[in-house]
Amino acid sequence: MRMSVVGTGYLGATHAACMAALGHDVIGIDTDPAKVAALSSGTVPFWEPGLDTVLQDSLRSGRLHFTTDVTEATDAAVHFICVGTPQRSDSPAADLTHVHGAVSALLPILTPESLVVGKSTVPVGTAAEIADHVAATGARVAWNPEFLREGHAVDDTLHPDRLVFGVRDAISEATLCEVYATLLADGTPLLVTDFATAELVKVSANAFLATKISFINAMAEVCEATGGDILTLSTALGLDPRIGPQFLRAGLGFGGGCLPKDIRAFMARAGELGVDEALMFLRNIDDINIRRRQHTVDLTIEALNGSARGRRVAAWGAAFKPDSDDVRDSPALHVAAALREAGADVVVHDPRAMDNARRLFPDLSYAASALDAARDADVVLLLTEWRDYNELDPAEVAAVTRQASLIDARNALDVDRWRSAGWTYRALGRPLA
Ligand code: UGA
Repeated sequence: MRMSVVGTGYLGATHAACMAALGHDVIGIDTDPAKVAALSSGTVPFWEPGLDTVLQDSLRSGRLHFTTDVTEATDAAVHFICVGTPQRSDSPAADLTHVHGAVSALLPILTPESLVVGKSTVPVGTAAEIADHVAATGARVAWNPEFLREGHAVDDTLHPDRLVFGVRDAISEATLCEVYATLLADGTPLLVTDFATAELVKVSANAFLATKISFINAMAEVCEATGGDILTLSTALGLDPRIGPQFLRAGLGFGGGCLPKDIRAFMARAGELGVDEALMFLRNIDDINIRRRQHTVDLTIEALNGSARGRRVAAWGAAFKPDSDDVRDSPALHVAAALREAGADVVVHDPRAMDNARRLFPDLSYAASALDAARDADVVLLLTEWRDYNELDPAEVAAVTRQASLIDARNALDVDRWRSAGWTYRALGRPLA
């Protein structure tokens, strides 16, 4: 099928490359000429494992092109909306400027044969609004939320847990079945529903994941007050098949371009709909999450005997999670910046996210290796659980620091290994020794 993908960020670039890999003829559209130039030359402008190979193979096949010119997609049957929906600067609600901009840009090329498919995460009611917006063209609208995780984007797109189609008519459903024929033939579960349910599936999935993380982090707070061990507790909880082990990793909490802004936008939308009480608990989920960041800052200052002023702090990790270079709402950088604010000399290292971090926080110092970051440090913080940090030799790191003091804010390192190399090791939600 001939299709366009409007917006070529993390979601759109992955979707475009994967749709071409499935055999479709795809045109990726973006207003940013630099992004279009990079993608056209086979360069992924962000770090996503495996995406460069899919992108380059798809470009070579001749089935994938990128452009800034919407009219090049005039003959496309399906138009996917994959633009960002960040938090508004003046409220917790979602900013839909890019979604409305994308639909307006498509308007001149829409016909009664076109299907506009929303994939961006939006407040419930947006699909119906878009259907009204495009009604005069005769085009159809569908909502097909995306559940991909950064760091696993290609696999999540080509082997999704489920497909959800929010549609108002059988033709839209049939068209989407054709788009995803390969995945459906592989046995991917399909749910066909209305617009509102499709939009809600996405935001409620992210709200549930955020709730699971904040639940275990709340338990970590209680463990710290009682001498309990959050790792044993979460392992025991996860062995109950009704609970499951996923998303029970206690630590610094969730960040990124999705979970934090999605729960806030969901609460804001519930307020507009008069059901704010139903989602009041998400306020606590957000508060617990933010508290982990402050707690890590407090533990660091405690490890520095009460003052960060003039002390040297090594911050391992800047990305919001490993296998990503995304620093949007990154808990790691939040902690690093807060310690800098408290007077510390903070030296950051991240295997992939240094450029993005530097752009956002030019005041922090950056080191080319984890060992360089730790040089002369009074305390070392593990803030993003990249596997690289597990491979470090605790004795080698201890030899370059001023004090062998470590705070593992992600419960990621082998505590016995570090303690036996002489480190004072603190981990969130775990006993002191
Ligand atoms: C999230 C969802 O997992 C995807 O299903 C969804 O499609 C995506 O948002 C989106 O809305 O686009 P993502 O933001 O890539 O994906 O990252 P996650 O893997 O969900 O991690 C989010 C944050 O939670 C990270 O900061 C991570 O470190 C943290 N986390 C995750 C924990 O603190 N503990 C855990 O046990 C799991």
